[in-house]
Amino acid sequence: MHTTNQIQLLKRLRTLLGEAYVLSEGDLTIYEQDWRKRTRGKALAVVRPANTRQVAEVVKACAQTGVSIVPQGGNTGLVVGSIPDQSGTQVLLSLQRMKTVRTLDADNLTITVEAGCILQNLQQIAAQAGFLFPLSLGAEGSCTIGGNLATNAGGTQVLRYGNARELCLGLEVVTAQGDVMHSLSGLRKDNTGYDLRNLMIGSEGTLGIITAATMKLYPMPAANLTAWAAVPSVTHAVKLLGLARQHLGAGLTGFEMMGQFALSLVDKHFPHLRVPLWQEATYCVLIENSDSESQDHARERFEHLLEVAFGNGCITNAVMAENLAQARNLWHIRESITLAQAEEGLNIKHDISVPISSIPSFVEETDAQLKREIEGVRLVNFGHLGDGNLHYNVQAPEHGDSKAFLRDNEERVNQLVYQSVKRFDGSISAEHGVGSMKVNDLPHFKDPVALKLMQQIKQALDPQGVLNPGRVLR
Ligand code: FAD
Ligand code: MLT
Ligand code: ZN
Repeated sequence: MHTTNQIQLLKRLRTLLGEAYVLSEGDLTIYEQDWRKRTRGKALAVVRPANTRQVAEVVKACAQTGVSIVPQGGNTGLVVGSIPDQSGTQVLLSLQRMKTVRTLDADNLTITVEAGCILQNLQQIAAQAGFLFPLSLGAEGSCTIGGNLATNAGGTQVLRYGNARELCLGLEVVTAQGDVMHSLSGLRKDNTGYDLRNLMIGSEGTLGIITAATMKLYPMPAANLTAWAAVPSVTHAVKLLGLARQHLGAGLTGFEMMGQFALSLVDKHFPHLRVPLWQEATYCVLIENSDSESQDHARERFEHLLEVAFGNGCITNAVMAENLAQARNLWHIRESITLAQAEEGLNIKHDISVPISSIPSFVEETDAQLKREIEGVRLVNFGHLGDGNLHYNVQAPEHGDSKAFLRDNEERVNQLVYQSVKRFDGSISAEHGVGSMKVNDLPHFKDPVALKLMQQIKQALDPQGVLNPGRVLR
């Protein structure tokens, strides 16, 4: 049953966007359910604007009626920030129709795209023009550049190219009042006041709606090499990272670590992927080297690194991809851990960072504590070691009721992991964001003054609480 206000708003939205682009009936699961299928919301309506002007009109109409908006890109976020709450009173604003590439400036090494452009499409468009767009993550086939920027996504190339933030030069944003901030200039230098672009990036739809972005492009590397190595321990993996930095310099573009149990899940659920070496080591690492020098030179250097690492015991075995297809397969195995975990059943996800030097002690202490205190825990540890970022996840015990396990243990597990993160001066969200999943934890782990400033910024930019209320900040 809708209120008169809601009926009037729906009518206005239909006039603004057209009947077909305001959905309030039928199956809206793909918009209302989170990627992990753990939470389901209910929207007053799903609106699908075609351009920035329409986004601004929707925001104005909602703000005038006191209705809040949840922006959504590909809905692949992992912290429950992109779906409506259960009240049935929020408007879900999907940017998926806004996917035009506005310009590609080869001399400036930039590309300007609308927010709903799928990340993989952006990578392909850049490649067709002879450039690299380096942001890369497992969800790239469905996540959008707007969502990547709103969450400041990381992924597997951060080591060399930085997070989504570092790849962005300009934004077009619709504010909570329905004004449009045009800042798509693509300048590499611009010190004319506060850095609003960086304020918007990582704000998870709570400060503005990103409608377009100017992103950096890079020359396509001439050489690309990928190796998968078995390492005896986390300490050896960190030592190997140091060696790789020393031997490959800026050519080191990816360094991922995967625990044996994580890989056993990929082997179990996707046996056709043929996971290498997982049975012979507690951890494996995936190293990528891409360079501007020739493939032969790069290969020599890479092989030398592996020889040195064998020599000092950092690695016990390794395979090197012979061609692009093999390299892609190795990456595919790494990126399948999330899906394999989902196949295995319910699990508790973490996305933590600590200084790289502390990773071995963090893992040793937290593993021991969890095993001691929570019976039957299975630890799925993998992630972006080169960035000090681990997905330190906990799978319910193999036998028994996994729902009951989560109900009884999720909070305790989170507390144990987060307290450990705190002891090591880390962060409880390295790359996925806060959303609503970590909103109650944040006050316990964020500096109180920083949190207060965040609240003041939200109040200044969105005093009515129109944009994604209850996410990031309570
Ligand atoms: P959504 O999920 O739709 O939204 C995410 C947040 O951004 C929400 O708060 C939403 O309100 C807001 N938002 C979306 N679009 C806009 C916009 N245009 N303007 C303002 N706010 C907006 N993340 C990593 O960092 N690294 C990884 O390696 C990684 N791997 C992943 C692998 C898998 C299999 C999956 C499912 C997810 C992974 N993620 C990873 C999570 C990651 O946050 C998202 O995949 C991606 O960045 C979100 O993009 P999206 O378009 O799906 O955004
Ligand atoms: C990854 O690195 O694969 C992702 O961030 C997804 C995840 O944490 O499951
Ligand atoms: Zn990740």
